[in-house]
Amino acid sequence: MSRLDVFIARMTAQAKCLNWGAEDIRDLPGPVFELGLGNGRTYDHLRKLFPDRDVIVFDLSGKSHPDCIPPEENLILGDVVENLEKVQSRFKGQVALVHADIGNHDLAANEALGRIISPLLVPMMRPKGIIVSTDRYYQDDWETLELPEGVDPVEGFLYRA
Ligand SMILES: C[S@@+](CC[C@H](N)C(=O)[O-])C[C@H]1O[C@@H](n2cnc3c(N)ncnc32)[C@H](O)[C@@H]1O
Repeated sequence: MSRLDVFIARMTAQAKCLNWGAEDIRDLPGPVFELGLGNGRTYDHLRKLFPDRDVIVFDLSGKSHPDCIPPEENLILGDVVENLEKVQSRFKGQVALVHADIGNHDLAANEALGRIISPLLVPMMRPKGIIVSTDRYYQDDWETLELPEGVDPVEGFLYRA
């Protein structure tokens, strides 16, 4: 696959999994976490899918597209591991959906980060909440879900808390 093909497959996986997740948690209250603001593409998609929920964004920096800058109160800047540790009591048992697209081009480092992040998410997830991730996450308590049709199985992962 060319880099273009990989990019298309990843964007397709993100859009389809997020759309599926939004439908699945329609009746499950709670905020949404966006791990990895980047350009703000998926943040923009999330705020359109969830206009009535808080979308809490974590990133090292807030340098997204100017049209996709989260409100200051919902943007948590700095190392995601440190910040997920800091917000444990604020979000305990509340988070309805997490979208995790965090890291860089180092796949091994991304996977290692996922192993650190997933247990930090566990106490904050609302039971039956959904985790959409670009990388495989490792959490025995979560159910691995079937991907929506047309999603490349190396480009997206879906879990239920
Ligand atoms: C692939 S980009 C996210 C792209 C985004 N989903 C979009 O649609 O534009 C990954 C992001 O993870 C952030 N990141 C990487 N390691 C991080 C860390 N340890 N703590 C916080 N953010 C981190 C980077 O700053 C980058 O913005």
